[in-house]
Amino acid sequence: MNEKDSENIKALLESEYIPTDDSSNADLIIINTCSIREKPVSKLFSELGTYNKHKKAKAKIGVCGCSASHLGQSIIKRAPYVDFVVGARNISSIPDAVKTNGFVKTDITNDDSELIVYAKSSNKYVRKINISLGCDMKCSYCIVPSTRGKEVSIPADIIINEAKKAVDDGVVEILLLGQNVNSYKKDGMNFTKLLQEVSKIKGIERIRFTSPHPTHMSDEFLEEFANNPKICKNIHIPLQSGSNTILKQMKRTYTREWFLDRCEKIRQIKDVRISTDIIVGFVGESDSDFEDTLDIVKKVEFEQVYNFIYSPRPNTTALDIGEAVDKQIATKRLNTLIELHKQIADKKMASYVGKSFSVLFDNLNDGILSGYSDNYVKVKVDMRDKNGFVSDEAISHLGKIKNVKITLAQRTGVLGELV
Ligand code: 5AD
Ligand code: SF4
Repeated sequence: MNEKDSENIKALLESEYIPTDDSSNADLIIINTCSIREKPVSKLFSELGTYNKHKKAKAKIGVCGCSASHLGQSIIKRAPYVDFVVGARNISSIPDAVKTNGFVKTDITNDDSELIVYAKSSNKYVRKINISLGCDMKCSYCIVPSTRGKEVSIPADIIINEAKKAVDDGVVEILLLGQNVNSYKKDGMNFTKLLQEVSKIKGIERIRFTSPHPTHMSDEFLEEFANNPKICKNIHIPLQSGSNTILKQMKRTYTREWFLDRCEKIRQIKDVRISTDIIVGFVGESDSDFEDTLDIVKKVEFEQVYNFIYSPRPNTTALDIGEAVDKQIATKRLNTLIELHKQIADKKMASYVGKSFSVLFDNLNDGILSGYSDNYVKVKVDMRDKNGFVSDEAISHLGKIKNVKITLAQRTGVLGELV
């Protein structure tokens, strides 16, 4: 979502600024920030210092995003050379902010749900499209509801028009975005219905979405996911913890049994890949709670796991429950989880050898074509002949979906041959 916000910011300033990779030559530097854990917040101030040191004399510096929402004016107090601060819920204010010295807007009640930007994504063939903004869940560890505000769904016709416009630009894959994407609700339309509408658009060959919430994974939604051929068979289901006690403390609103039941249903889909997020060391997490998490990882065999050590955040109710687990214990748990998952991931990758995946090629570099399979494995195909010569045919595969037979598995991707 931050990447999408950056794309929108760039697009909103397109008529006045040209993007550059050289910050020392830029007239305007904007840092788009995260605040989900403490680390990115401290990184903000060190980055600001570096940019300020190397920037052109009159260049402006602005801070956007979730840290902007939560720190507001205090950013300018701490780094007085910052010219403006625009919160994650206030992207539409960017054109004003760059023109007004000392501009600060961090209003989380602002409604940009009908703002039309048509921002391009860095990948020419894949377009990110917001379908909702903010989040109404109250996960006790999470700062997002206080930085992105209440959930508001974007009208379906705006989403559909954006997707159609993307097709005109040569896009074949759409990534639907929302903090809680499957709680989409607007004008009588739910997420399943929206998926059906988006998949009717001619030219859109693939649909992905992130992040869904386990609680809102109804049977109806899972059936659509399984049976709609345009929906890519890769799903992110954030577990956070495998212990019912901890899930309750986290206010996640589902149980380990519900989570396992959803995963069991999803696993029936051929070649489906499941990814998840896990937090270790949350307030009160005992050894046996952590064992419950490991147990779910073993049962579901997630293809990908994003692990985090719990980071206490301001404006969250977890602060009232108590303190995080000792750092050393949390780090040990994190490493145990990483080790367990490495074995699972290697086994999964090895099982792809000999299979055929449909791949959307989006890159050609030194004769190597690469892209993602429907179920989100990074696939590479060597297009060089034995003399190192790359035929003109290679480039014609860009932006196309082709079948690839997998010949070799690596930890982060696979190699294959066009079939
Ligand atoms: N500490 C650690 N991880 C967190 N996440 C959200 N809040 C915190 C926090 N306070 C993780 C969750 C979420 C992912 C985007 O970031 O796992 O799914
Ligand atoms: Fe945060 Fe929970 Fe909302 Fe995700 S669902 S953004 S973890 S409050």
